[in-house]
Amino acid sequence: MDAIPLFLFFFLLSIHSLLVSIKAADTIAVNQTIKDGQTIVSAQETFELGFFSPGNNTQNRYLGIWYKRLATGTVVWVANRQTPITNKSGELTLHPDGILVLRDSATDRIVWTSDSFGATRIPTARLLDSGNLMVVNDDDENLENYIWQSFDHPSNTYLPGMKFGRNLERGVVWNITSWKSADDPSPGPYVVYMDFNGAPQMFQKDRDVILLRFGIWNGLWFTGMPSFKDNQIFSVRYVSNDIETYSAFSLINASVLSRLTVSPLGDLSWWNWINRTQGWFIYLTPTVDNHVRYALCGVYGSCDLERSPSCECLKGFTPKRRDQWDVSDWTRGCQREIALDCVAGDGFRKYSSLKLPDTRESWFDTRMTLAQCETKCRNECNCTAYTTLDIKDNIGCLLWYNELIDMKKFPTNGQDIYIRMATAELGKIFR
Ligand SMILES: *[C@@H]1O[C@H](CO)[C@@H](O)[C@H](O)[C@H]1NC(C)=O
Ligand SMILES: *[C@@H]1O[C@H](CO)[C@@H](O)[C@H](O)[C@H]1NC(C)=O
Ligand SMILES: *[C@@H]1O[C@H](CO)[C@@H](O)[C@H](O)[C@H]1NC(C)=O
Ligand SMILES: *[C@@H]1O[C@H](CO)[C@@H](O)[C@H](O)[C@H]1NC(C)=O
Ligand SMILES: *[C@@H]1O[C@H](CO)[C@@H](O)[C@H](O)[C@H]1NC(C)=O
Ligand SMILES: *[C@@H]1O[C@H](CO)[C@@H](O)[C@H](O)[C@H]1NC(C)=O
Ligand SMILES: *[C@@H]1O[C@H](CO)[C@@H](O)[C@H](O)[C@H]1NC(C)=O
Repeated sequence: MDAIPLFLFFFLLSIHSLLVSIKAADTIAVNQTIKDGQTIVSAQETFELGFFSPGNNTQNRYLGIWYKRLATGTVVWVANRQTPITNKSGELTLHPDGILVLRDSATDRIVWTSDSFGATRIPTARLLDSGNLMVVNDDDENLENYIWQSFDHPSNTYLPGMKFGRNLERGVVWNITSWKSADDPSPGPYVVYMDFNGAPQMFQKDRDVILLRFGIWNGLWFTGMPSFKDNQIFSVRYVSNDIETYSAFSLINASVLSRLTVSPLGDLSWWNWINRTQGWFIYLTPTVDNHVRYALCGVYGSCDLERSPSCECLKGFTPKRRDQWDVSDWTRGCQREIALDCVAGDGFRKYSSLKLPDTRESWFDTRMTLAQCETKCRNECNCTAYTTLDIKDNIGCLLWYNELIDMKKFPTNGQDIYIRMATAELGKIFR
């Protein structure tokens, strides 16, 4: 290199480093501290991490992640949900062991820490454009080997790319919990979660009370949530193996900003950002498919909102307590008109267009055919119903052993279920 290009080279280099120093970093290095007022920003400037005060609360400071470019200041994740810092003395530091420590420098109190998984060598914390804050080893390019990630500790927001369910190896459970109020991100009463008894189902609880049941994954959607199948904005997948069981959404067009939240009042909504109006728009409310309280019609009852009264007993069943049923107290449900007699031999009746009943006491197999499923159910006197597990590939077996509860008539996207009935009931000509 001769003299002039060399000069030019250093000139360009200095301009480059100037630009680099202007652009906010997306990482926190070991021993580096982010103070209240400082932030880090993801590479494409989609998300920002720093300190904020929620809603009208001007006192409390929280460490959180929000959309960098939206004036609405939409927060998607909060670290110290229950332990606010009462003045601007918060400091976030990445320790050499890969643990993020949030400290109140005024009181020298540790307010929140992350944990770690696997071996820590040269940790770095990086805020990704997905909104995930990840602590990784710098020498390991496989992000799956992360030490810690905020996506494993969701707040009230579910972002595309996040998993919903659990991972037994890492010991993490992915669910979302409402904020107490717009001013207080500490966990409120509403949790949307996956239950792993029997075939895994999605539920929403209000404290200890089940509010809504979104049901099992049927290969295409969660049976009680037909609006949440693949659509123009996102596609849904469900993965279940020995290590993890989860559902995840991915965006069809990654430039759309999209999120699912549970509000302080318990409303579950899928939001899209509309550039033209500069505001969030509710794209889907899965609750609408389900706005029937869990088990409203009791066992062997089915709910049909198009009808009045909304509850009816399935064909072959009558109200357990007619007097209560007639005044809309349906919770005791229905009983068989003709009792089962397994020894004499029962049969099955097909019921269609239903939201499948609660599967917490079910058994399932992903490979059996419907015919094998029927045989297994027929051979076990305590088996009350069976159906196909996966309606996409038309495979798998789902068996119930309990009284069937929380069914609903769907005008479209309902499913078939084969319920055990006495032979005499099946032989009835008139009803
Ligand atoms: C971080 O700080 C600790 C304690 O002051 C020190 O021992 C360590 O060498 C530092 N690590 C790096 C990477 O700067
Ligand atoms: C903040 O206070 C104003 C006035 O009281 C109210 O209209 C607004 O809804 C509040 N915002 C939040 C997020 O609580
Ligand atoms: C921060 O708050 C603590 C206790 O609430 C107080 O003792 C301290 O003086 C405050 N520091 C500043 C800088 O305001
Ligand atoms: C939600 O997840 C947390 C851990 O992130 C777990 O402690 C809690 O039990 C879960 N809640 C439900 C209802 O599954
Ligand atoms: C994604 O959305 C943006 C903004 O709405 C649009 O400009 C772009 O064409 C879309 N891309 C695809 C592949 O649909
Ligand atoms: C939204 O508008 C901004 C400018 O106002 C533009 O930079 C951005 O690409 C737009 N996003 C989409 C998804 O259209
Ligand atoms: C149902 O009965 C079979 C025997 O026929 C028994 O092995 C099984 O444990 C029973 N299941 C339930 C859930 O009661």
